[in-house]
Amino acid sequence: MKNFLSIRDCSVQELEELLALSIELKKLYKSGGRDLCLSGKTLVMLFEKASLRTRMSFNVAMTDLGGSPIYVKPDDIGGIGKREPAKDIARVLSRYVHGIMARTFEHETLTSLADFADVPIINALSDYCHPCQAMADILTITEHCGDLKGLKIAYIGDGNNVARSLAFVCARFAMKFAIAAPEGYQLDDETIQTANDIAAGTVDQTSDPAHVVKDADVVYTDTWTSMGQEDEKQQRIAVFKDYQINSELMAKAPGNAKVMHCLPAYRGFEITDEVAESPNSIIFDQAENRLHFQRALLKKLLSD
Ligand code: CP
Ligand code: NVA
Repeated sequence: MKNFLSIRDCSVQELEELLALSIELKKLYKSGGRDLCLSGKTLVMLFEKASLRTRMSFNVAMTDLGGSPIYVKPDDIGGIGKREPAKDIARVLSRYVHGIMARTFEHETLTSLADFADVPIINALSDYCHPCQAMADILTITEHCGDLKGLKIAYIGDGNNVARSLAFVCARFAMKFAIAAPEGYQLDDETIQTANDIAAGTVDQTSDPAHVVKDADVVYTDTWTSMGQEDEKQQRIAVFKDYQINSELMAKAPGNAKVMHCLPAYRGFEITDEVAESPNSIIFDQAENRLHFQRALLKKLLSD
């Protein structure tokens, strides 16, 4: 495993190893232990978009492992592909650092970095997918629900990058992914086909939120307007108004169904404050697990 670009590209063995390592390192760090396996190593973190969780958790994870993170905001290097092409950035940075993490608009920017870099490339979110989020989510679900096999995530809202990675991760871990999204904003056929080719019957897509939550172990949502879609915000608010996780919808789910959201959450839109703050909500455990998963990922990709 050289890069971490999409769950689609990872084998179940690789993902299981990463999950096991996340659990092991979480335990170690919670008990005050340290693993300085990345001492002397540097990770550059290129961002084309805003971030709280991803930026901070990668920064802390890298430092925790004895390494050094370097944060680069878009303007610092004149923009990936603007001042110079991704393929040149990849080859220059490969001479300085041991790993490159990037949050991009186009997924092709990441694949281009990966094609030309000698060091690992990590996807910190692209318009296409958000694999670090999905693996942190799986870690959170196993902590709260136990054995992953057969568990069902009901996803309400936009068929976006977060939804796509969840579809792939569910396929890899023999889980079910039922998505309710309005027409025109659903997951594309290729994603569904890929997930269902990995494990038949993984993805079920409909436009009816009540249908998907009724036997869900987890009810999940994300923003209706992703970064880069700000111009469509008003139109999206109108289209998605019936795709909110609120107490009325949660009343149709099993009483112990967990509520998840990758954050940032726009309360009053895709989720109500009441549900986000309810005892079923595990959104902050989920946010914490970004750190624990990424420590494992960095150790696996960057240590000798
Ligand atoms: N969930 C997530 O990736 O959050 P940030 O955009 O704050 O990194
Ligand atoms: N779908 C959202 C996720 C943010 C973490 C976005 O791309 O903006």
